[in-house]
Amino acid sequence: MSRDATDAAAERPDEERRRAAPPLHARPRPLRARAPAGPLAGRLRVPGDKSISHRALMFGALAVGTTEIEGLLEGEDVLRTAAAMRALGAEVERLGEGRWRVAGRGVGGLVEPGDVLDMGNSGTAARLLCGLLAGHPLFAVMTGDASLRRRPMRRVIEPLSMTGARFAARAGGRLPLAVEGAADPLPLDYRLPVASAQVKSACLLAGLCAPGVTRVVEPEPTRDHSENMLRHFGAAVRVEDTPEGRVIELAGQPELAAAAVRVPGDPSSAAFALVAALLVPGSRVVVENVGLNPLRTGLFTTLREMGAALRVENARVEGGEPVGDLAAEHAPLHAVEVPPGRAPSMIDEFPILAVAAACASGVTRMRGLAELRVKESDRLAATAALLAANGVRAEIEGDDLLVHGLGGPPPGGGTVATRMDHRIAMSALVLGLAARAPVTVDDAAFIDTSFPGFAALMNRLAAGGERRGPGEDGPIAPP
Ligand code: S3P
Repeated sequence: MSRDATDAAAERPDEERRRAAPPLHARPRPLRARAPAGPLAGRLRVPGDKSISHRALMFGALAVGTTEIEGLLEGEDVLRTAAAMRALGAEVERLGEGRWRVAGRGVGGLVEPGDVLDMGNSGTAARLLCGLLAGHPLFAVMTGDASLRRRPMRRVIEPLSMTGARFAARAGGRLPLAVEGAADPLPLDYRLPVASAQVKSACLLAGLCAPGVTRVVEPEPTRDHSENMLRHFGAAVRVEDTPEGRVIELAGQPELAAAAVRVPGDPSSAAFALVAALLVPGSRVVVENVGLNPLRTGLFTTLREMGAALRVENARVEGGEPVGDLAAEHAPLHAVEVPPGRAPSMIDEFPILAVAAACASGVTRMRGLAELRVKESDRLAATAALLAANGVRAEIEGDDLLVHGLGGPPPGGGTVATRMDHRIAMSALVLGLAARAPVTVDDAAFIDTSFPGFAALMNRLAAGGERRGPGEDGPIAPP
């Protein structure tokens, strides 16, 4: 596409454009959850996987040809990535619900954006984009909302600078930042200092534009959606477990060929409905078409150890990713110790696990949670505060979280500060479904970053899968 065509696309005031640039959260939207009158029941689907959705748009933009995506998450985080890919010259078009088409520009073919790239609330979008920009000879400025502007970017700036790209960022390596991509990027050989799929993926994205082999070593395996999708688009990726960690090698400057992508339901979103079913007496819920990549399923392993009745039905492989239907039934839970090595495979699920632990009998210890401090909020502090506000004892000991379970419904009755964090908001609302008194969140607007329609879906489960008529309130409603 020519530069002029790109600019015209960016200025098109149509539905797609409106979706791609959602209004800022000007006014807080409080929500309150109370115990439903009866069990939760029904079958449902949750929105597409956030990690896979970002990557489908980015790899689609770097491929030659047209990538068709089905089941794309149309949450605000992913819409930011769609807008960024458009600003970098890819043609990104919404065909229908979850159905998108990306006409790519080929590896190394992105063009300089005409304006600041605003990644909203999304750390994944911002960090992966840094990798993508580093390998292209262009200048770009990136910013985000107040939450994203507090999050550390040095973890990608440091390795990516070794490709020859130049970064300038605010104190502490925070957004806004400016990047001047490398004209002749060098391949990286980098050992990750923290277990982070975002940093790994940023290095691999930069490696696409560099000649030779890019090598990344991770101390603990993290989600491998980038590796899977790179292979799906025709790149040569080698993965080997060695005594020094998991080694990933990518052969640089491949020609990525457009490929159809079917995005499974997000296990991190399914987690909220499944835990709610485990906690509300008499419930039985099936979440269909959930991504079950083993590097994402630490929560399900942990819940089973706690005594949860959680079954996989209809297991299959789609587009290189394991997928299945997950059935959860109410059952009493007991405390466990979650080992630190499991943290990367459930890194986004600790707030909702803490809610389950609050209702379990005994003290649950979750170990090695340092990374939670740099998520959309300081999730370690936010999770402890969420529980404390609702009569549950929780303690932070170093990088561990201890939750004193009540062996039944917690008191509830508190108001939870969302702190611009979707998962804190949804976890608090699930707690409200299980608690004796309603739980209020001060601002549920951020739920739209990953799980648009969350409250309506939970209300449908409370109605036994029936849609409610207008004016009929479910257990989750504005206060
Ligand atoms: C993600 C990786 C995780 C996770 C985030 C999505 C990804 O972050 O918390 O929600 O898509 O790569 P880190 O890899 O930084 O832990």
